[in-house]
Amino acid sequence: MKVVAFNGSARKDGNTAILIKRVLKELEKEGVEVELIQLAGQKIQGCIACRKCFSAKNKRCAVTDDLINDYIAKMLEADGIILGSPTYFADCTIQIKALIERAGMVARANDQMFKRKIGAAVIAVRRAGAIHAFDTINHFFTISQMITVGSSYWNIGIGREIGEVDKDEEGIDTMITLGKNMAWLMHKICLR
Ligand SMILES: Cc1cc2nc3c(=O)[nH]c(=O)nc-3n(C[C@H](O)[C@H](O)[C@H](O)COP(=O)(O)O)c2cc1C
Repeated sequence: MKVVAFNGSARKDGNTAILIKRVLKELEKEGVEVELIQLAGQKIQGCIACRKCFSAKNKRCAVTDDLINDYIAKMLEADGIILGSPTYFADCTIQIKALIERAGMVARANDQMFKRKIGAAVIAVRRAGAIHAFDTINHFFTISQMITVGSSYWNIGIGREIGEVDKDEEGIDTMITLGKNMAWLMHKICLR
């Protein structure tokens, strides 16, 4: 059983990474293999609407000058997918949105290839707009026929400077519970 997580922050190892890692720690405790990919510094563009994925149907995006096809392959191989993002202007970052657009379109062109995988969104925020970012990511999971996991609160941690989310006790507890719930669900529904 494997979970692949993406951190869409422009800051590597920032608050979003801290929150994601807390979820991954719980998953690892329950025997789930995990991988964290940080998108900071990468130039990733969104879908260019060429629709070549619908004619090729090869589970790949026709735009090949970045790492998105590697990420799509990792998402396809995993049983669970975590998309983490800081809140930027009340939404997720461009990097996460680009991944959603391109992986999401390729999945739709290939018989909804992410269907029944388990998905969770993780959001870091200084003050406001996190729910909108959370919703953006969950819209991708739900239109992809994925199963989303809940926690004791929405999966959000509060902080501005790197490390501040660690002081958000409720946010950290939410991540711990999210990890436990995701592991529980994976053990129930994954056969491998
Ligand atoms: C371009 C930009 C836009 C931001 N917009 C918001 C926002 O709309 N609401 C908010 O509460 N914080 C906002 N923030 C603050 C970040 O969400 C916050 O610092 C977060 O902890 C960063 O996570 P990271 O360390 O993973 O990058 C913004 C930060 C940046 C750089």
